[in-house]
Amino acid sequence: MPGSSNETANQPMNKRYTHDVLVIGSGAAGASLALRLANNYRVAVLSKGPLRSGSTWYAQGGVAVVLDDEDSMESHVQDTLVAGGGLCHEDAVRFTVENGPTVINWLVEMGMDFTRDETGEFHLTREGGHSHRRILHTADATGKAVSTTLIEKLISHPNIEIFEDHIIVDLITQSDHNSRKLRCSGAYVLDRNHDHVCAFEARCVVLATGGASKVYLYTSSPDGATGDGIAAAWRKGCRIANMEFNQFHPTCLFHPQSRAFLLTEALRGEGAYLRLPNGERFMPRFHERAELAPRDIVARAIDHEMKRLGSDCVYLDITHKSPEFIASHFPTVMEECLQYGIDITRDQVPVVPAAHYTCGGVLTDLNGRTDLKNLYAIGETASTGLHGANRMASNSLLECLVFGWSAAEHIRQVIDTIPAPEQAQPWDESRVTHSDEDVVISHNWDELRRFMWDYVGIVRTGKRLERAEHRIKMLIREINEYYRNYKISRDLIELRNLALVAQLIIRSAQQRKESRGLHYTLDHPDLSPIAQDTILVPINYADQDIIVSRP
Ligand code: FAD
Ligand code: SIN
Repeated sequence: MPGSSNETANQPMNKRYTHDVLVIGSGAAGASLALRLANNYRVAVLSKGPLRSGSTWYAQGGVAVVLDDEDSMESHVQDTLVAGGGLCHEDAVRFTVENGPTVINWLVEMGMDFTRDETGEFHLTREGGHSHRRILHTADATGKAVSTTLIEKLISHPNIEIFEDHIIVDLITQSDHNSRKLRCSGAYVLDRNHDHVCAFEARCVVLATGGASKVYLYTSSPDGATGDGIAAAWRKGCRIANMEFNQFHPTCLFHPQSRAFLLTEALRGEGAYLRLPNGERFMPRFHERAELAPRDIVARAIDHEMKRLGSDCVYLDITHKSPEFIASHFPTVMEECLQYGIDITRDQVPVVPAAHYTCGGVLTDLNGRTDLKNLYAIGETASTGLHGANRMASNSLLECLVFGWSAAEHIRQVIDTIPAPEQAQPWDESRVTHSDEDVVISHNWDELRRFMWDYVGIVRTGKRLERAEHRIKMLIREINEYYRNYKISRDLIELRNLALVAQLIIRSAQQRKESRGLHYTLDHPDLSPIAQDTILVPINYADQDIIVSRP
């Protein structure tokens, strides 16, 4: 048993667990970090649902990395900087790109198998923004292969304890010895199997909770992408950066029975065209790289054409490739579309953009360190400076692996100097009751996601943002009131976090008086000459936010 617990037969409440490192999230970021530390430390890994339910499992296209002799680190760096609209931090870009081959070697050593070409070399595909073929992939189900590889190792590691269906509610802090500052020492966690809140204590805590695209009505991301880590970090005083840059993937299946299933950008990388309902190819009108322009440009072009024509969707067409080629490169997409009666070898596929990736997040340095001592954030939860105003395709899994490694290295350097955490105060449920009005949660959840889609979507205006701001304030008041009075549940935790993240997105969008990357506003259509991050500081909003916390 790697960690210790205070459980006794007649004392299920206020249960406490103690580990060296608490990793919240079992996607590529959390799992890779946990594996790098587990030989030396006792590690707990939490996931809010089953281990495989994060975005990593659903990744299709692949991992961007420079392996081809004709490619270069410099080219990957420059492509990332261009896609990022002038807002990437060049040090973070170089750090990620240059460490790419090493982390890929590690992943292969862990057992990962990428698709190979007829010579036995890794097959490299292409995606938007990349000027070379540099995407390693496992057919069109790369995320499934990455997750399977890492999770098999997690499960079998004797120093890793896994807690599925455990949802963090809030982080725990205590004062740092000899200073008035706070340090992170764990988290309150809802154990859904026993329906009670327990305390997880650890010397280092890592947020690897993924993104927040569920804040939008239509999204390619799984249900758990509710920004829990971002919200928890904000509530404990961490700065949050660049939340206005939510990426919309251009091509998600448009079908009444499908939940925005993704059609990988690798389809366009391998030659698929985007067409209007009349069959016209339109992307060459918008960008010299046509269908392989950076994602923000393609999504905006589709949105523009749909609005211009009053059409519900546009079409993705790969019918000019041989059925054998399509079946071997895109078996997942093919099978999914067939379920809806669409044969991608013969039919054009109706597609629309949907929310896909949170480029902003908890501000960190190159070791994943946040503003709160002993708290790290990695993967989609973090804002490392890599993505700037628009993430380039397949740079995300790479970032998860690189920062999973660099944060683990930092933890290794400092952990022996960190004292064991003091016992956390027990979670207090004495003043709350079971709700008999869960409709409040489902109603607010729907309302929030709809107005975010309508008012804070691909094209914004000051007026729409103002409307959204007004609504989110009312919702937050109502949610906090509910949170104060009723027992928590997964839905309530997620709604509370989504509302806070929506507010951060709206505030960030209101601060940006220009159009850059994924943030496009009709009121300020031009690029400002100075590129600046939007950094929100919790203390500046302390009098406006009602941050209700327990105990
Ligand atoms: P995730 O993989 O999302 O994992 C989050 C983890 O945190 C989960 O285990 C979840 O259970 C846990 N968690 C969340 N909240 C809580 C909580 N409150 N308490 C406890 N646990 C919690 N990127 C690429 O680079 N290449 C691709 O080809 C690609 N394709 C994609 C396709 C799709 C459909 C989607 C949605 C995304 C794709 N992306 C791709 C983006 C990429 O998959 C994600 O950014 C990346 O996998 C995020 O990994 P992560 O480890 O940060 O988080
Ligand atoms: C895709 O396969 O199109 C998704 C790639 C990504 O989001 O990086």
